[in-house]
Amino acid sequence: MELRTDSPPRFRHAVVTGGAGFLGSHLCTALLESGCEVTCVDDFCTGRRENVAHLVGRRGFTLIEADICHPFDAEVAGAAGGSPPDLVLNFASPASPADYLRMPLHTLETGSAGTRNALDLARRHGARFIQASTSEAYGDPQEHPQSERYWGHVNPVGPRSVYDEAKRFGEALTAAEARARGGNVGIVRLFNTYGPRMRGYDGRAVPTFVRQALAGEDLTVTGDGRQTRSLAYVDDTVRGVLAMAASELLGPVNIGNPDEITMQELAELVIRLTGSPSGLRFVERPSDDPAVRCPDITLARGKLQWEPVVAARDGLERTIEWFRRQPS
Ligand SMILES: NC(=O)c1ccc[n+]([C@@H]2O[C@H](COP(=O)([O-])OP(=O)(O)OC[C@H]3O[C@@H](n4cnc5c(N)ncnc54)[C@H](O)[C@@H]3O)[C@@H](O)[C@H]2O)c1
Repeated sequence: MELRTDSPPRFRHAVVTGGAGFLGSHLCTALLESGCEVTCVDDFCTGRRENVAHLVGRRGFTLIEADICHPFDAEVAGAAGGSPPDLVLNFASPASPADYLRMPLHTLETGSAGTRNALDLARRHGARFIQASTSEAYGDPQEHPQSERYWGHVNPVGPRSVYDEAKRFGEALTAAEARARGGNVGIVRLFNTYGPRMRGYDGRAVPTFVRQALAGEDLTVTGDGRQTRSLAYVDDTVRGVLAMAASELLGPVNIGNPDEITMQELAELVIRLTGSPSGLRFVERPSDDPAVRCPDITLARGKLQWEPVVAARDGLERTIEWFRRQPS
């Protein structure tokens, strides 16, 4: 990741909700490296302390255990070294299907009351606010690739709606904050991102395949394996989010890698890169699982001068290397 540590940080103090999760921990690291104070707020419902263990004790880093469904301004004020936050990145939310199906009400509450509380914190300090939305806002899309102009095709009462609709509500709330109060807010629609610190059992394709391949188990491909995803390496996504933070755009802006890959191709690539003797095992596809997913990133290219640069092979090799080093 290109970090300009030689220049003054653009932000003085960033609050990252969900900062002990996969993406949040990489954002905390990048911001701290840029010279910014970072307050990580997390309830550890899916995050892990080891994700931020390398930051704890470093100057400028504060870890707060709190559920953002309740106002958390007092904790942030009490913990911060001095300067009020000038950036709030709202990344708290269960994000993998296994997690949000296990915690449906907490997911809805986090996306609604939690987003409201994070917006309030930003407004009180006049901070820039970034809402982590998702390609799930497009549901099972009928347009391909998906541009920000597409409004989506979401089942509002299906099992996945707890996540999809919470995220859509978070977008609506963020957009209303801009309209009603002139808030300095932005929305990123993140497409599938992978990399170190994902959990092997979180149910998402990359960590599942890598874990299975390293254990010599067959890789469980859902459906006929022809459904596609587009996978961004975490460093690319972090760069995109920080570019959005540094802009004054409301968005939504798609952040993702437009290189599309079928689930079967992904499984076969993981087997090749790990040198595993594993085969493929086809299993039932979850309900409302989207058939295709691919971002149109014209807006991010044009407005943020951002595009992904890490090829799938490189990103997967780095991820596999990290999984190999984890205690089994
Ligand atoms: N990783 C992706 O591919 C992807 C794609 C689209 C959107 N996103 C969004 O990015 C964000 C981070 O996703 P991730 O992949 O890192 O998932 P993750 O599960 O690793 O991280 C989420 C973090 O939020 C914390 N959290 C959840 N509810 C909370 C609450 N009420 N209060 C405080 N903390 C809470 C969890 O403990 C965890 O640390 C999520 O908002 C997700 O919707 C991620």
